[in-house]
Amino acid sequence: MHSVLVVDDDRALRRTVSSWIGSFGYQVQEAESADEALEAMAGAPADIAVCDVNMAGKDGVWLAWRLRERYPQTAIVLATALRDCETAVSSLRNDVVDYLLKPFDRARVEEALSLSRDWHAAAAGDQELHEALQDRLRSRRAGLAAALAEAQTTHVAALDGLISMLQLHERDGRGHARRVARLTVALADELDGHSDAEMLEIEHGALLHDIGKLDVPTAILTKSAPLDDHEWRVMRRHPQVGYDLLCRLPRFRGAAALVLAHHEAFDGSGYPRGLQGEDIPMGARMLALADAYDSMTHQSGRSTKMPLYEYACKECAHQFEVLVRGHETPECPACHATALERRLSVFSAHTNGGDARTPMTGMGACGTCGDPRGPGACSMN
Ligand SMILES: [Fe+2]
Repeated sequence: MHSVLVVDDDRALRRTVSSWIGSFGYQVQEAESADEALEAMAGAPADIAVCDVNMAGKDGVWLAWRLRERYPQTAIVLATALRDCETAVSSLRNDVVDYLLKPFDRARVEEALSLSRDWHAAAAGDQELHEALQDRLRSRRAGLAAALAEAQTTHVAALDGLISMLQLHERDGRGHARRVARLTVALADELDGHSDAEMLEIEHGALLHDIGKLDVPTAILTKSAPLDDHEWRVMRRHPQVGYDLLCRLPRFRGAAALVLAHHEAFDGSGYPRGLQGEDIPMGARMLALADAYDSMTHQSGRSTKMPLYEYACKECAHQFEVLVRGHETPECPACHATALERRLSVFSAHTNGGDARTPMTGMGACGTCGDPRGPGACSMN
């Protein structure tokens, strides 16, 4: 029989939860403070500890740290009324198996305990179970991300919570999301014609474009060798996973469509739907461009200062390299020509020009006739 320690300073709630857990067939012990919990553990370490976060004196997060240090095989579940992303995120970092948001019911407790039981067995050395469990924890994480974002009162808090979870899972997840959003919004600004609501959708879509990677195993995300077929299939699911997650959140439904399409390519070679040309939402095309640019210039989290493209000025035919960053916009260093028309033609050359995944240095093809020497040098200009 597995043993569970229930730690909560609210006596009534502790009794209720303990009686549920007893009825599931676990052996239950109670503690009303963090100190009392550590004493109980010193006597007989429990397989699972269910700890309330908000307790007088030392809180549940403090206790979780102590338990993790001293009892590596004890599965930890945190319960709290505080619908606060930061606590959830810091506790997940701390190898907490599951997180009960109050008010929770019997079924939710049972689910958390079943996950915890397997976690405990895996920690005790069952490798096969350990791998299966990682899959379950990942899908729990995507569900938890959605629940936490839903509970936030503002867009900013919801975005922040989701991106914090991604950052835990993927190195430079937050930095990449912010840089891509900045660049995508700058591109959208250049193109004009977007309403305020559309601009907000574009910004949210860009910030959350990779949120589906919460469901991709870290081993795949961090692999330095090329991915094998199976790993690619898993990786290519992330736009759909991100879309499904965001569709659960009414405030991000518009952004969801962009997230779904951010790996489509203009020539139809992208995924998941193989959309072509104008069927790909314009916002997603800008996002793909910004995403590719950031991936090339920030590999390993370091900026490599790589020019986005070479450009021949339409006014004076001067050749120069253009580095698009934030709100910087290209302008000819020789004649300082007003840049709007030029920017638009260069931009369309790159968004309509096909695969945004290929390196873009030297890609100065004219958007009108395709001349590889670029706008300004070709016969159409
Ligand atoms: Fe992506």
